[in-house]
Amino acid sequence: ILFIFQETMYIEENTYKNDMISLIFLLKEKVGALAKVLRIFEEKSINLTHIESRPSRVNKDEYEFFINLDRRNTPLLTDIIKTLRNEMGVTVHELSRKKKKDAVPWFPRTIQELDRFANQILSYGAELDADHPGFKDPVYRARRKEFADMAYNYRHGQPIPKVTYTEEEKKTWGTVFRELKTLYPTHACYEHNHVFPLLEKYCGYQEDNIPQLEDVSKFLQTCTGFRLRPVAGLLSSRDFLAGLAFRVFHSTQYIRHGSKPMYTPEPDVCHELLGHVPLFADISFAQFSQEIGLASLGAPDEYIEKLATVYWFTVEFGLCKEGDTIKAYGAGLLSSFGELQYCLSDKPEIQSLNLEKTAVQKYPVTEFQPVYYVAESYLKRNSCFHKSFCLFSFRRFASSIPRPFSIRYDPYTQRIEVLDNAKQLKNLAESISSEMGTLCSALKKIE
Ligand SMILES: [Fe+2]
Repeated sequence: ILFIFQETMYIEENTYKNDMISLIFLLKEKVGALAKVLRIFEEKSINLTHIESRPSRVNKDEYEFFINLDRRNTPLLTDIIKTLRNEMGVTVHELSRKKKKDAVPWFPRTIQELDRFANQILSYGAELDADHPGFKDPVYRARRKEFADMAYNYRHGQPIPKVTYTEEEKKTWGTVFRELKTLYPTHACYEHNHVFPLLEKYCGYQEDNIPQLEDVSKFLQTCTGFRLRPVAGLLSSRDFLAGLAFRVFHSTQYIRHGSKPMYTPEPDVCHELLGHVPLFADISFAQFSQEIGLASLGAPDEYIEKLATVYWFTVEFGLCKEGDTIKAYGAGLLSSFGELQYCLSDKPEIQSLNLEKTAVQKYPVTEFQPVYYVAESYLKRNSCFHKSFCLFSFRRFASSIPRPFSIRYDPYTQRIEVLDNAKQLKNLAESISSEMGTLCSALKKIE
């Protein structure tokens, strides 16, 4: 049994013991506050078998209480939780009551909690498959371990370690950079071409220089609040998407093997910097990416797979309409000289983006995509139109994901708020009302 009563408080699944139900709730220090809560249990004739308290780690003037009760009381809990939520303004987040399979999967509530993903990577970045171009190169493998260790030890808030890239690494970057740049004016979407010169000006995007993630991350933060975080290896889709909810993009820092500069079987710094970064500087695209992340938090496994597929056909391999022409905005395309040309040729199948359908499309990961999805233009203008389109249809799609509560990202505290009590909704209404005031006043001034 798993309950959450305050954003950062939770009991792990393994505390589910025998016939006990455990609850945590949080109270302001006020005479009689605890007695009031306990009375609710007493009124229902529920016997508490254990109770303990501690000062809250979240709010200094509040106390957390941990209680156990007999599982036979389960049927009465719905009413009790309702009373606590509605009459006492307590935040109640119920993760599971009946069976384990109904539990909402754990998700990070604060940006610092993304640190937990560092040691749950699926494969360590230094382990290469036998068909990887660097598999038989001990120097390359040692270098990859350096990068993996750096990312593994990274913690939120630290500057991303700067890397002195070798001459060979710079040469590889130079080849990729030079070749791709010739295609961008004709193949890349408006936003990519719009941001690219700024990256050249402010972030060291040059043929003979591999930009530093730290510089790029700072630049993105000033554009859209997106930031980069080094990652040691492959994350699960759930963890990777969760990062996006906080506007955090997990980025590799190593570069592909020098023997095959135009090929990489995995993401590398060329893919991140040339493919992903320019789009994360776009306001609508950043919003879209974050909403995929938010939709993933606590979503059931089958929906994580659908969201990862949507991500694949938009953020990684998306095409969009610009007037009568089709351009690429997916990072997998914008970082591949071969596929960027191929995707706009007459060889692949092009379909209209339809999230319900796109979300279940199967795809290969090691060869060119046989099918691409193109976002139709929403407004007949340039700039942001296709991303707006994605956003509108994405919200409709996301609303079909079952989750017993709504959530919201608070950019000031960099926390996920679970909106499940009247007090939080009132705070949200007040904040929207204040924004509406600003909007109305600004509208009047530009009339
Ligand atoms: Fe990617």
